[in-house]
Amino acid sequence: MTHATGHSDRPLILDSLWYGAHVATMQDGLYSVIENAAIGVRGGRIVWLDDMSKLPAYEAQQEHDFAGGWVTPGLIDCHTHLVFGGNRAGEFEQRLNGVSYQDIAKQGGGIAASVKATREASEASLLASAKRRLSSLIQDGVTTVEIKSGYGLSLQSELKMLRVAAQLEELLPIQVKRTCLAAHAMPPEFADKDAYIDYLCEEVLPQIADLGLADAVDAFCEGIAFSTEQVSRYFEKAKALGLPVKIHAEQLTSQGGTRMAAKFQALSADHIEFIEEADVQAMAESGTVAVLLPGAFFTLKETQKPPIDWLRQYQVPMAIATDANPGTSPALSLRLMMNMACTLFALTPEEALAGATTHAAKALGIEETHGSLAVGKTADFVCWDVESPGELCYWLGGQLLKQRIQQGKLTS
Ligand code: NIG
Ligand code: FE
Repeated sequence: MTHATGHSDRPLILDSLWYGAHVATMQDGLYSVIENAAIGVRGGRIVWLDDMSKLPAYEAQQEHDFAGGWVTPGLIDCHTHLVFGGNRAGEFEQRLNGVSYQDIAKQGGGIAASVKATREASEASLLASAKRRLSSLIQDGVTTVEIKSGYGLSLQSELKMLRVAAQLEELLPIQVKRTCLAAHAMPPEFADKDAYIDYLCEEVLPQIADLGLADAVDAFCEGIAFSTEQVSRYFEKAKALGLPVKIHAEQLTSQGGTRMAAKFQALSADHIEFIEEADVQAMAESGTVAVLLPGAFFTLKETQKPPIDWLRQYQVPMAIATDANPGTSPALSLRLMMNMACTLFALTPEEALAGATTHAAKALGIEETHGSLAVGKTADFVCWDVESPGELCYWLGGQLLKQRIQQGKLTS
């Protein structure tokens, strides 16, 4: 008793105290609101979070009054292709004139066009253009981003893309998770898909794993890309190298990629407009997150929506990401994707916010430390100039961000 009292008399030691706003903690994917909250931060982590009126005696090096608004976890964009050379505005016009994404790909455009431009680009120019795009995401409240390779398709150029992604984390106040998407498309120097997969398994994945340049491995499983057998072989290798996997699957057709990826305990299956009930069951069993990419759905004028009711029924967590890429989703606002997830896929604003925080963290395997606000979690949070958290999905664009805190430090 005496011991306990002695402890409680000691002030709470903080690097910083943040107060003057309501908090949507997003614990368990729900708003879980704390009104008039205070957040105590030490060593980049949250060490106290509750109603301000319950705050014990404390000593803080800095205090910060938000003076109103709502705080949420920093947004997490768990699926992007932010590093690329050139852009494909010309293809946008072709598609407006009725040419399909698949036809453009068959004519040597599409991903192949970005591969050519990315291979030709210097590391410095890739870094400069990706930095501009990433700055837009940051200004919209993103504190963790995932960036994929996949426009290199050779050992050297895949490494170049991943190095650029690593450098972005040094240059900007953001956590970057890197994913090797070498099985994205066929490079021009290979004629045979199996031979390319062999090359990835024998030469590319081992090097990338050795250099520690990727946190995960991704593949595009589709008629215009790789078959389930080919992706499965590449996933075997990734897992043997200790790398978790994720997949672009069931975007344009149903191939069984999602079910196959679930067998590898994939962190996520992304796009998934064409999944079937058995796929959803498999995802529920393997703990695979469904990553919804409404920007690509919108840009390609798709009509088949991901089966949200099944995902809800089997309690598969749904994440939302920009899929920022030069072809199918030139999207630079995660909040806009949250709006589209509500408008196009009928998510609730609460589900959409969970999709860009709690569930996005799970899609990256970082849910223990990121994606919700609680004692022990990384102090990544954003204060928004809104009267309710639903406004984050309601506005199309605009600047709602008041303050952004990454690893306990004010960054804007
Ligand atoms: O996520 N689906 C395949 N990959 C990207 C598109 C890449 C591109 O067209 O450049 C996507 O939509
Ligand atoms: Fe993608």
